Amino acid sequence: MQADIEMVKALLDGGRKVVVLTGAGVSAESGVPTFRGNDGLWKSHRPEDLARPDAFAMNPELVWEFYNWRRELIGKCEPNPAHQALAEMERHIPNFLLITQNVDGLHAQAGSRKLIEMHGSLWQVRCTSCSHSREDRAELPAMPECPDCGHLLRPGVVWFGEPLIPGVLKVAIAQISSAEVFISVGTSNMVQPAASFYQLAKDHGAVTVEVNLEPTSNTGFMDFALHGKAGDILPELVTGLSK
Ligand code: APR
Repeated sequence: MQADIEMVKALLDGGRKVVVLTGAGVSAESGVPTFRGNDGLWKSHRPEDLARPDAFAMNPELVWEFYNWRRELIGKCEPNPAHQALAEMERHIPNFLLITQNVDGLHAQAGSRKLIEMHGSLWQVRCTSCSHSREDRAELPAMPECPDCGHLLRPGVVWFGEPLIPGVLKVAIAQISSAEVFISVGTSNMVQPAASFYQLAKDHGAVTVEVNLEPTSNTGFMDFALHGKAGDILPELVTGLSK
């Protein structure tokens, strides 16, 4: 693997345009539960069964209990060396973009600024009725109400079956289509459209790299597959990058 790491480092050092996609695995070492690992269950519910509009419509109290639990848990988590390495990568590579599927806010906390949070943020809440939307890291009531109209608030995240935030997908596609290096980190590649981003990058001539604890369904299609902890591999990739 060391030879592959050196080759990827050489690519990163060549002034090329780099787009990185991250998933839950990048935050695993911060203590944030991944979605599909063994630690993913909450009170015997699968997150996929709660993070959906029909679950919220049927039982908003349960869905809010889940999100308030996640907010409390993740509020105590700190960025790890993988987040820090990506913030560092941005400082070395002028043409850089980080696209994350994570809603935990840890990339921004680590200092990433060229960042798209394509599934929204746990720290954003919005009204189910009016246009009220705000960032709020404070503890919320069990059923938080909109201060403007009194209707129920909802987490500002994109749920299964919901479209992405307007414009986000277009920007992601445009950026990935012009990337010269595409790196996917800590994602099981089970959820679209992110799972197909590598294909888009590849179709436009990018070198594709996977950094993940274990092989995924995309591994065989990547030019480089670096398997291990993101918190070990990413710092190695940025060590010695020139300004
Ligand atoms: N370093 C690198 N990879 C890791 C680490 C680690 N320390 N720990 C776990 N992983 C890998 C796992 O092996 C797995 O392949 O991270 C991946 C996490 O996969 P998922 O839990 O499926 O998360 P993700 O791909 O981000 O899910 C996508 O689905 O549930 C929705 O909206 C939610 O954003 C989420 C999306």
